[in-house]
Amino acid sequence: MREVTRLVQARELREGAGVVVRRTIGGPEVDHVDPFLLLDEFRSDRAADYLAGFPDHPHRGFETVTYMLAGAMEHRDHRGNVGRLGPGSVQWMTAGRGIVHSEMPRQVQGLMWGFQLWVNLPARLKMTAPRYQDIAPERIPEVERDGVRVRVIAGTCDGATGPVAGIATEPLYLDLQLPAGAAFTQGIPARHNAFCYVYEGSVRVGGLARDVPAGHLALLGPGQAVRLAAGAAPGRALLVAGLPLEEPIARYGPFVMNTRQEIQQALDDFREGRLE
Ligand code: CO
Repeated sequence: MREVTRLVQARELREGAGVVVRRTIGGPEVDHVDPFLLLDEFRSDRAADYLAGFPDHPHRGFETVTYMLAGAMEHRDHRGNVGRLGPGSVQWMTAGRGIVHSEMPRQVQGLMWGFQLWVNLPARLKMTAPRYQDIAPERIPEVERDGVRVRVIAGTCDGATGPVAGIATEPLYLDLQLPAGAAFTQGIPARHNAFCYVYEGSVRVGGLARDVPAGHLALLGPGQAVRLAAGAAPGRALLVAGLPLEEPIARYGPFVMNTRQEIQQALDDFREGRLE
């Protein structure tokens, strides 16, 4: 069984044009959890926290995964692709050699709640053609075991396989709702790195002596499965795992490559309009 090796409290900061996010991976405490480079939760019912959105910005060398719980966002890229993200939907965007896009709210009031995860690409795929997997809520299978409800975004749980396909790092991405007193065990390949991010209530992770409260990331150590449980109150959490790349990481803002030289190339390409 995997146990918690580290607990990290999310830090609030402003991203994009001033959107308030709570960051765990990619912050000052945890640079990355190979192959994961960043995890942000955005959750606010104050329009001022999200209205400014994420105007045009580039990406190269990795994948961005947006998962919405509430609210609506619109995605537009430099090639004219437009996509709408509503509650329960997922966008898995493989930036590859380059995307310039905006991610803007499609609402002026009410709750905006979701997550953005960055997943690294292996060196051989960093310059691959960009690809989108826009997944409507009804395409995400939901399984129930002992009262625990699981949305399977990527990977497999109880025979249900998530709709996200063809990702080099073989990700598992589960959204779990645990009622009070419920327990849940999920197998995770021994070679994969894994974490649990609690976003509502609290969740007991492995044999840790105390519950992990909302807004905390629990990094998981080696093993083939993890056990999660809710105490006297319900809890909600993301359980994510992936195959580590074990390659050098050169990172500069929205570019994640293997060498400083490749970062410089990305900056030059962006400035000269050659990113795609
Ligand atoms: Co972006």
